Amino acid sequence: MNDDILSPGRVAVITGAAAGIGAAAARHYAALGMRLCLFDRDADALGKLERDIGETTAVRAVVGDVTSADDLQTLCTTAYGDFGEVALLMNNAGVISGAGPWGDVAAWRHQLDMNLFSIVTAQSIFVPRMLAQEGRSAVVNLGSKEGITTPPGNAAYSAAKAGVKVLTEQLAHELRVAVGEKMTAHLFVPGYTWTPMNVALKPEGSAKPEEAWTAKQLIDHFDGCFRRGDFYILCPDGAVTPEMDRLRIRWAMEDMIANRPALSRWHPEWMGRFKAFMAGT
Ligand SMILES: NC(=O)c1ccc[n+]([C@@H]2O[C@H](COP(=O)([O-])OP(=O)(O)OC[C@H]3O[C@@H](n4cnc5c(N)ncnc54)[C@H](O)[C@@H]3O)[C@@H](O)[C@H]2O)c1
Repeated sequence: MNDDILSPGRVAVITGAAAGIGAAAARHYAALGMRLCLFDRDADALGKLERDIGETTAVRAVVGDVTSADDLQTLCTTAYGDFGEVALLMNNAGVISGAGPWGDVAAWRHQLDMNLFSIVTAQSIFVPRMLAQEGRSAVVNLGSKEGITTPPGNAAYSAAKAGVKVLTEQLAHELRVAVGEKMTAHLFVPGYTWTPMNVALKPEGSAKPEEAWTAKQLIDHFDGCFRRGDFYILCPDGAVTPEMDRLRIRWAMEDMIANRPALSRWHPEWMGRFKAFMAGT
């Protein structure tokens, strides 16, 4: 269904493209013969990637910060100026840092700016241009399971990623009403993926844990779901199966329906029942 968007010569714009999931996506799309407009704040890493994949396809690198509307405007102007269209906008840049429910307000603002408002801003700049162009197109926003089952520990990140889920659902609906299949939106939710974001959370020199997927594994899985036209692209990893994800989401939603305590999965009185639910006993 979305094969036309990923066809040779079409244009992908990726934020946070210099490392991790964004870089794996860039390499994947370059191998498909797509033209690329890559955006990151890390000029050195972005330049290196541009040189690497620039040998196989047309690549334009734009250094900037996703929290800057001016930088995102430059990205859009560059993509349309150099390539004339955007087939795929992947709002991928994100950061995680702990900020508790009554934590540092500046850290909250940074999490929301980086993970949510950057996408609101990118959508406000890109979507009107993409709607006006001739070819079909899609927006892919990076969510997180932390924005769906919202485990304790990273309240600000979870709130931001929950916001990304809602924002992307609203975008998908509005686009469907306005233009049908001409432009679509997709929520891309990785499982545990071995990228600099997660490497940084482990002691230096740690090897990839068994349960983590590589970014390439993740993008290969994403590719099939995106081509099929899925909206919710919830990815497994080496430890969490799609069935485990479905059960965890069902349990989280039923907290509200059954009037259980918030986040009952992690509540001492409910943990046993959650384990039994997961085991189907
Ligand atoms: N890795 C995982 O397990 C995982 C799981 C769920 C969701 N995600 C989401 O996937 C996305 C990518 O994650 P990742 O693991 O590849 O991250 P990463 O930290 O490995 O790479 C992120 C890239 O974004 C760039 N970046 C950071 N801040 C930026 C800014 N302000 N402006 C422009 N570029 C910036 C970095 O320089 C880096 O190149 C994020 O939105 C993240 O929340 C990741």
